[in-house]
Amino acid sequence: MSISQHAREISESPTLKLNEAARLLRSRGEPVIHLGAGEPKNPAPITALLSSAAKLTTGDIKYAPTAGIPSLKKAIVRYMEENYDKVVAPENLIVSEGAKQSLFNILFSLVENQDEVILLAPYWVSYPEMVKMCYGTPVVVTPEDGTFLPRMEDIERAVSSYTKAIILNSPSNPSGLMYSEEFIAEIVEFCERKDIYLILDDIYHKLVFDGKKAPVAYKFTNKDIENTKLIVVNGVSKVYGMTGFRIGWAIANRKLVEVMTNIQAQTTSCASVISQAAAEGALTGIQSVIESLRLTIQNNRDVMMQELKTFNGVRVTKPDGTFYCLPDFRAFNDNSVELSQFLLKKALVVTVPGKPFGMEGHLRLSYAGSVKDVIEGIERIKWALDPESPNEIYIGDRKLIRDWL
Ligand SMILES: Cc1ncc(COP(=O)(O)O)c(C=O)c1O
Repeated sequence: MSISQHAREISESPTLKLNEAARLLRSRGEPVIHLGAGEPKNPAPITALLSSAAKLTTGDIKYAPTAGIPSLKKAIVRYMEENYDKVVAPENLIVSEGAKQSLFNILFSLVENQDEVILLAPYWVSYPEMVKMCYGTPVVVTPEDGTFLPRMEDIERAVSSYTKAIILNSPSNPSGLMYSEEFIAEIVEFCERKDIYLILDDIYHKLVFDGKKAPVAYKFTNKDIENTKLIVVNGVSKVYGMTGFRIGWAIANRKLVEVMTNIQAQTTSCASVISQAAAEGALTGIQSVIESLRLTIQNNRDVMMQELKTFNGVRVTKPDGTFYCLPDFRAFNDNSVELSQFLLKKALVVTVPGKPFGMEGHLRLSYAGSVKDVIEGIERIKWALDPESPNEIYIGDRKLIRDWL
């Protein structure tokens, strides 16, 4: 068997791998705490379930138009008006099997051999791999001051004649940081001046805390949708807790949407009609489901911050949104992969190493689960790492004694 060099260069998804590890341990009855989760626990909105069930019972489960069923596209057009104050036509959008596929379609449509795509560390793990899959080169800009805020001058310095796009994810997986209005205004102006695409991954845009709102990049351009190089990616996975339905979308100029549609037609044909019906049900149903999820997650974030505050040696930036934070664990181990494996083995807590997010020495901790998981998970990590914490702990019904510090 010979596997192509190109395929061999693509890394596995560390987050999906950890989900699988947690699932296997749980299936063996191990009391694992999953602080690696990338999805909220809430059930899908009832309007989504009813809408997909209604579609299912028709028995008419066939291919859909490649770019999405017209009624879902109409609901997304309305979502753009209500949440972005932006009027777009159905031809400006394509529905895909999750925002992940939307991002891949965009990059595949834009990136040529040698083209560079700028990523701001810490970045979502899949961006560099997707850029490489499209034969492009990821160029990472890392803030040097220990914050998660990139400086415009560093971004400007990273731009070359090969730069095709910049990807922004705000609020960010893995840090929870949301870029300010000023930063978004500056980067929109910069990309327009340099004729670079700005890909805005807005998948968490409504999971924002403390009364803040995610800035809308369109506000800072005078160009209409056919002429702007802003591309918005969104979906139902995170804000409605519908990760398993796999519905996302991209908003761009018609020409780019046409190209993405050709790519999708030749790869997946279309997103499942059952899932598209569910997404339509979510978008047109009661929107208070998002607010109740947001409040639950905000409360979880507060508990996580409280627990980490009393953790000697750990430094954390309070997240503005998402369900992640990215504390600095370098006081314990510079190698985040090693540390994450150690915590899984000793304390049965799943964490995600910061390395594949471009932030070595950090761990991504998720508070998408329950408050109980957050409290117990951090207690176990403290037990495993902090010599000042009690050296005995109960994990499930086993009493464990720390004998390595
Ligand atoms: C930043 C970011 N973008 C995109 C996605 C993909 O979302 P979807 O489930 O819609 O493919 C994720 C999922 O983890 C994410 O964290």
